[in-house]
Amino acid sequence: MQTKHKIIIGSSQQMSELADGSVHLMVTSPPYPMIQMWDDLFCGANPKIAKLWQNLQNDKREETVRQIYDAMHDYLSLVWHETYRVLCDGGIACINIGDATRSINGKFRLFPNHSRVTEICEKIGFTTLPYILWKKPTTKPKYKGKGAFLGSGFLPPNAYVTLDCEFILLFRKGNLRKFPVHDPDRYDSAFTKPQRDEWFSQIWSLKGTRQTESDLERRTAAFPDEIAERLIKMFSIKGDTVLDPFLGSGTTIRLASQNERNSIGYETDQNLIPTIRKKIDSCKADIAIIKR
Ligand SMILES: C[S@@+](CC[C@H](N)C(=O)[O-])C[C@H]1O[C@@H](n2cnc3c(N)ncnc32)[C@H](O)[C@@H]1O
Repeated sequence: MQTKHKIIIGSSQQMSELADGSVHLMVTSPPYPMIQMWDDLFCGANPKIAKLWQNLQNDKREETVRQIYDAMHDYLSLVWHETYRVLCDGGIACINIGDATRSINGKFRLFPNHSRVTEICEKIGFTTLPYILWKKPTTKPKYKGKGAFLGSGFLPPNAYVTLDCEFILLFRKGNLRKFPVHDPDRYDSAFTKPQRDEWFSQIWSLKGTRQTESDLERRTAAFPDEIAERLIKMFSIKGDTVLDPFLGSGTTIRLASQNERNSIGYETDQNLIPTIRKKIDSCKADIAIIKR
């Protein structure tokens, strides 16, 4: 099946290139609020966030921390609204996100990004579906938010549980998708029983994938191919259109192409174009990169 792919260098907060209801599946991983590696991106995207971080140096108020967290989620929520608009009835949104732990002004705390995104998507009108936990193999237990817990002591009660899972949140817009009886593309997209048993269980332990990443992929916090591939095969059929509004290195486009789905990706950082090109290099499909 010949498929088409479009990469738009621009913000997905407005996806004016996409008509209402024109996308069947969204698979993405946004910048995670309150994770240090994304601070600069949020500050650059919204001067209010940069100002609040500055204020925090002086006022050290809890309220300021809350405002920063809120503003970061406000930034992402514009994209969740646009996603709702462009998804078809029955379309699915898959959001890979991790919670954040951080010490601010000497106080250690958890920022439960997964619950904030769920609340926002519910308010937009999505139906929340059971989520997946991606158990990552490499993270070490932490003591007081940094360093290894083991070796630092075994005494209760002041150590913290390690965040070694990320969430893959799943939402549906509207009703179940409808198909003609015996739709050939749908039947051709069926998964096997072992695939169904593994993919539709709640915990995914994807060992070793991270070791295969290049430096650039690490800088974009690319998710493993297997995550994109499983989600595409679970929640779309051949010939569908898959959207990634936070494209990063281009993983979703590559896996959509390899699995005979059309795709559209949005990415604001044009420095990633060479990385994206490299990733989609081997795809034998019609792929256009468009600068807004
Ligand atoms: C966590 S990374 C995505 C990684 C991706 N899943 C991969 O496999 O490479 C998030 C990406 O979203 C991009 N981004 C942030 N805000 C954006 C926006 N408003 N529109 C489009 N892309 C955005 C960032 O530049 C970053 O590359």
